[in-house]
Amino acid sequence: MNILLTGGTGYIGSHTAATLVAAGHRVILYDNLCNSQASVADRLQTITGHALPLVVGDIRDTALLSKTLTTHQIEAVIHFAGLKAVGDSVKDPVTYFDNNVGGTISLLQAMKAVGIKTLVFSSSATVYGVPHYLPYDEKHPTGAINPYGRSKLHVEELLSDLAHADAGWRIACLRYFNPVGAHDSGLIGEDPSGIPNNLMPYVARVASKALPQLTIFGSDYDTPDGTGVRDYVHVMDLAEGHLAALISLSKGDSPIRYTNLGTGIGISVLQLVDAFQRASGQTVPHILAARRPGDLPAYYADVAKAKAELGWTAKRTLEDMCESTWHFQVTSRHANK
Ligand code: NAD
Ligand code: WQD
Repeated sequence: MNILLTGGTGYIGSHTAATLVAAGHRVILYDNLCNSQASVADRLQTITGHALPLVVGDIRDTALLSKTLTTHQIEAVIHFAGLKAVGDSVKDPVTYFDNNVGGTISLLQAMKAVGIKTLVFSSSATVYGVPHYLPYDEKHPTGAINPYGRSKLHVEELLSDLAHADAGWRIACLRYFNPVGAHDSGLIGEDPSGIPNNLMPYVARVASKALPQLTIFGSDYDTPDGTGVRDYVHVMDLAEGHLAALISLSKGDSPIRYTNLGTGIGISVLQLVDAFQRASGQTVPHILAARRPGDLPAYYADVAKAKAELGWTAKRTLEDMCESTWHFQVTSRHANK
């Protein structure tokens, strides 16, 4: 299948590209490079042995998208492109809605214009908001608690309306939990510019001594060790989830479906730090500090629907997530010297 990946040079897009090419698909990357580098396409060529076309463009450029869909005879789109920093979304909601919601509208217009109706959308567990119960299953009420989350929820609502208006669409909304880890090659991974917001890249930088210590936000939560609990899922498992979603869309007759992609296992900050120290052989100095405003104490996925509908379960362990992150950290540090 010819598949367009918006946001294809980003963290999750690039890993999914590697998985799709390995499964025999033809992948075209489309990205404005606002949070990734064109060199990712070269690295993907090294990994897969295939040249992946990269179209440098914005998803809000409907004309360029339509042209790309036609030129490359695209049959399905996986829509990763988006802005994802929760704090930035609070400061500048207009930019977030313009990019994430406006960008998706532009993509849907382009797809409609050329008659492509198969779409996988990068949604997020953040759409569930404050837990009414755990684990979150897909029937859990939605209620995002920040502008970033609401931008994802708005897109889900738009896609739901679209699926109701035209049953010819095949749409998968994949609600990712906390993606971490890297490709085994060490050539691609999560490499945020500046100081990382998220736990795993921060821990990796502390382990490599690029940052002095980790600040643990909150040690008085109602969790087994008092620190925040999340469902960390290996990015290569996530990548395989996209392949499974595409296969299931091609067989299914439902115009839209929502699926959690996680492991179903809650891991605390201290457990993750411990696992990372073991995997890397490095110490990760840390201090316990106040809670980060807006953080939830704990959440993790009910993964039964992913198994039943996509035939997908996460296979990789926390150890695999830490080892691959460390391998990428060491490899990319050498590559950048
Ligand atoms: P990322 O920032 O690494 O990748 C997103 C890519 O989209 C980047 O390469 C960026 O340059 C590109 N992009 C952004 N706006 C664009 C635009 N207007 N036009 C073209 N390209 C644009 O992020 P990621 O972690 O790979 O996330 C991919 C998707 O998954 C995002 O939509 C994100 O919201 C969603 N998601 C991520 C997480 C996570 O924790 N990483 C969790 C849940 C959902
Ligand atoms: C995990 C845990 C922190 C950094 C975010 C988005 C969410 C989704 C995934 C896209 C929490 C603690 C963190 C640090 C810490 N993205 N922590 N010190 O907040 O679960 O989710 O990314 O959809 O929308 O909100 O991920 O990695 O930032 O935090 O103690 O320096 O680590 O308090 O308990 P989060 P995270």
